[in-house]
Amino acid sequence: AQVAQAEFVKSSVRTEDCPSDGLPEFALVGRSNVGKSSLLNSLVRRKKLALTSKTPGKTQCINHFRINDSWYLVDLPGYGYAAAPRELRTDWDKFTKDYFLNRSTLVSVFLLIDASIPAKPIDLEYASWLGQNQIPMTLVFTKCDKRKKKKNGGKRPEENLNDFQELIQGFFQTAPPWIMTSSVTNQGRDEILLHMAQLRNY
Ligand code: GTP
Ligand code: MG
Repeated sequence: AQVAQAEFVKSSVRTEDCPSDGLPEFALVGRSNVGKSSLLNSLVRRKKLALTSKTPGKTQCINHFRINDSWYLVDLPGYGYAAAPRELRTDWDKFTKDYFLNRSTLVSVFLLIDASIPAKPIDLEYASWLGQNQIPMTLVFTKCDKRKKKKNGGKRPEENLNDFQELIQGFFQTAPPWIMTSSVTNQGRDEILLHMAQLRNY
């Protein structure tokens, strides 16, 4: 399930403009700054294939990366970035949701949740929306390398991720699979790639 080859293919802001070769794909979604682009780079073992930043709002399009010439990883703009102009945020929200609902080659969404802080209401809202629309989903907890800090609620990543799973229980008929990750230590990399390989072979 390892990545031998990865290449950027294109940026789109409409589902219709996404690649049309029919290859299966997985989308990384989550709050702005949660670590979507960093996780993509960790999965493909390249430091700068997807652009990352300390400042939220870095990724602004639907970005397709072709892996091993046979499937796609898709990097998306984050939600919940308060400092972006309203029209831009509404735009991102519209085209990403349209993408989730209409992209027929989308095998599963990977919803990234920051495990170093307590759950945010917007994450619960997003999980609820995915559940209501029955979009196949895997939970990915990011930043599991971070130690607990008083100013971040004083809980360990394991405690935050358990809390989150309890809070979203009612949104899904069966609890979504979940994986702990860190783009700093590459924790979870093999587990995610294996999970994606299994999903592709269904
Ligand atoms: P947008 O494109 O703005 O939506 O953000 P993003 O979700 O793509 O986040 P990005 O990958 O750009 O990372 C945001 C910040 O978090 C960067 O400063 C990263 O270095 C940091 N970061 C990402 N993943 C991890 C992680 O696993 N551990 C730690 N400690 N920091 C991380
Ligand atoms: Mg990004």
